[in-house]
Amino acid sequence: MIDQNIFLIGFMGAGKTSVGKKLAKKMGLTFIDLDEALIIKFGISINEYFAKFGEESFRDEETKMLKETISDLKINNETGVISTGGGLPCFNSNMEQMNKNGVTIYLERPAKELFHRLVNNRSKRPLLLRLNEDELLQFITDSLEKRKLFYRQAKLILNREEQGINDIVKRLQ
Ligand code: S3P
Repeated sequence: MIDQNIFLIGFMGAGKTSVGKKLAKKMGLTFIDLDEALIIKFGISINEYFAKFGEESFRDEETKMLKETISDLKINNETGVISTGGGLPCFNSNMEQMNKNGVTIYLERPAKELFHRLVNNRSKRPLLLRLNEDELLQFITDSLEKRKLFYRQAKLILNREEQGINDIVKRLQ
């Protein structure tokens, strides 16, 4: 079985956390959700973090959290499945950092599908919180276009047809 960390990347709503949890269980690896780790570290929600300290500070903290997670796994001699926030691969050379330290998997979903998955799940996401439906679709389309440049540097790109955990495990072998 795989002895490298697995980093799940992709836009908000792509399913990184749920795929990550299933994958970790199936492969017997440690599961880490970087957003969750930040919430625990600071004792406040992502919304509250953005409101108090702003996005730039959040990007620095998520980068730190990524580095700490990679080094903790190494120290403990563990392999992890790490689910990342949607923006993480697009800042501070994080994509390079992940590609150096494991297998990156991009869960690629079309903008329309992401819209349907996010339209009723805006409230915990500071970047979407105040957008109406039209603005949401526009935001997804525009930022996906920019973020793709980073996401597509992943070692594996999984599209809609390959959502099954068994498919993913097969692709990793
Ligand atoms: C963000 C995605 C969120 C979270 C924050 C910013 C982004 O994570 O990190 O709200 O910039 O795309 P999810 O992708 O898990 O929603």
